[in-house]
Amino acid sequence: MSAAPPNVGSADPRLLGRAVKRIAYGAPEIAWRVDELGAEITAAYPDGELLVLGLLKGSFVFLADLVRQIRRPLQVDFLVASSYGVGTSSSGEVNLVYDPETILEKKHILLVEDIVDSGRTLSRLVDVLQLRGPKSIEICALLHKHIATELRYPTRFIGFDAPNEFLVGYGLDHAEDFRHLPYVASLA
Ligand code: IMP
Ligand code: MG
Repeated sequence: MSAAPPNVGSADPRLLGRAVKRIAYGAPEIAWRVDELGAEITAAYPDGELLVLGLLKGSFVFLADLVRQIRRPLQVDFLVASSYGVGTSSSGEVNLVYDPETILEKKHILLVEDIVDSGRTLSRLVDVLQLRGPKSIEICALLHKHIATELRYPTRFIGFDAPNEFLVGYGLDHAEDFRHLPYVASLA
């Protein structure tokens, strides 16, 4: 039933009658890459406690698939950050709307993000999380636009080097729509 390739354009009933320009990454390609990332992450953490921290909402689909490809013990929690001033000022202040209760101390933290754009959100978050004494903090992003001028930390695990276009699907939204697309599409 779900074997048919996704339709690009208004023919896909998920698209609210709107057209997407093109599919940037199809579901099979994403599944294949997430599988590889899971293997990379498994190999990168031979020991210690691992806490996978998903940045909501955008990471929820990616995180759900990713953790099932990591073959070692781990725990999962989430963060909700809200940024102020984005697009209107360069203050780059990030507020934690939901702060995980899980203890970070002495654990490996893997911060999972949907897409790295300016890198502002992640830089501030890593600063905040560093204060809690984790053993390590690494970033895993499904997509990276490589235009991040404000990212002060390297993204250790990257799914795809994304084009500088507005992308939706597989967790990524435009005004809260399109998160449920099983593929990543470029918005027309
Ligand atoms: P940054 O702090 O500028 O790196 O912003 C990252 C956040 O902006 C991501 O977590 C997304 O929620 C959002 N974002 C950036 N680029 C896109 C895009 O192409 N599509 C959808 N959301 C995006
Ligand atoms: Mg978003």
